[in-house]
Amino acid sequence: MRTQVGIVGAGPAGLLLSHLLALRGIESVLIEIRSREYCEARQRAGVLEDGSVRLLRAAGLADRLNRQGIEHGGIYLQFAGERHHIDFRELTGGRTVTVYAQTEVVKDIIARRLADAGPEAIKFEVTGTEVADLDTQQPKLRYTSKDGTRHEVTCDAIAGCDGFHGISRPAIPPAVQAVTERDYPYAWLGILADVPPSTDELIYAHHPRGFALHSLRGPTISRLYLQVGSDEDIRDWPDQRIWDELSERFALPGWELKQGPVLDKSITPMRSFVSSPMRYGRLFLAGDAAHIVPPTGAKGLNLALADVAYLAPALADLARGQPELADQYSGTCLSRVWRSTHFSWWMTTMLHRTPGADDMERQLQLSQLRYVVSSQAAATSLAENYTGYPPLPATILTL
Ligand code: FAD
Ligand code: DHB
Repeated sequence: MRTQVGIVGAGPAGLLLSHLLALRGIESVLIEIRSREYCEARQRAGVLEDGSVRLLRAAGLADRLNRQGIEHGGIYLQFAGERHHIDFRELTGGRTVTVYAQTEVVKDIIARRLADAGPEAIKFEVTGTEVADLDTQQPKLRYTSKDGTRHEVTCDAIAGCDGFHGISRPAIPPAVQAVTERDYPYAWLGILADVPPSTDELIYAHHPRGFALHSLRGPTISRLYLQVGSDEDIRDWPDQRIWDELSERFALPGWELKQGPVLDKSITPMRSFVSSPMRYGRLFLAGDAAHIVPPTGAKGLNLALADVAYLAPALADLARGQPELADQYSGTCLSRVWRSTHFSWWMTTMLHRTPGADDMERQLQLSQLRYVVSSQAAATSLAENYTGYPPLPATILTL
């Protein structure tokens, strides 16, 4: 079999890439180890930057996003018993973010690919994925389909969109790959709850007992996160313990956290990780396959979408014998990746309690938080990073 681009992984990066390539007349084969149901149900991120929304609109993928996405013009920062609003619209000349779950982005693109290209557009539940001959002009993608048949696809290029635990990044020889990483000594316990949000915009709370975040998924569904120890066992967290802890960390006189049935709960480790370059020969990494940020700041999904916004035109040009954009891909993306890596680290270390930290750390965090809510310059820096920096250029958003 032959195709122009072989894509490993049907997360947000791989799905959007296959659609953007199709819009440019480029054929691809997209393979995924999980089932469609699993991909559509995996609870993860929920905040789209301004540029991600524009990108999904430009790609014709925003019918439901336009109807169901909830535009937010700011966030609340809570610390020392006070809640402060950071007004993105005012600080950035009108830029906003949109609350729309990753599960919904994934459902929308899967439905569109299957409608446009038929049931074979995405090969779910494959096994034995391999990439080979990456340093040649004809790299190979191998996999076994659900019916047990082994396939070898000869490609012009392969996109490794298979997340942090995928096989693409490990296929790059270590000698030509630089990895920069940091693990944080805490994790997030996230819940999805069948209860209307107790807030109109997201609350990021600094508290002596640890960080908490109140997000949402719609008028009747809340999404909340709690800083817990990195070796915490979810079985030690019955629902009422989670609600009690959240209530304490968000507590303010005259305000109450509404509680309801917990629909989903999980613990996520926190790490910063960047593998560079994001290219080896004809293998191009995108999204979590190349980089991970801690979730404070909501950058992971947005970085994955931005990567493929640059990768699609680069691969389309490469297929026509023009390598310039492909040669620029890694450098262009890594610049944004490092900006988001810094912002996520900054938000994380400003808001979380480091186990065993002294009072110096707490006082420095509080001083930084007071600065952010009192200085227009500091608040603008948070706002422009949160809404997406640098803004995606018009050339990337014109399809
Ligand atoms: P993924 O979504 O990981 O997709 C990769 C796909 O590749 C998966 O479908 C996987 O099954 C498939 N795959 C893997 N190996 C193979 C193989 N060998 N062959 C074929 N397919 C393969 N970000 C935030 O901003 N906020 C959050 O709250 C948040 N929470 C998160 C919680 C968890 C548990 C995780 C893991 C991530 C979270 N993130 C969050 C990060 C965000 O969800 C990711 O940045 C985003 O999913 C990246 O998209 P992606 O397409 O690059 O990778
Ligand atoms: C969500 C996740 C984040 O990491 C974040 O910073 C804000 C919101 C969410 O899942 O809604």
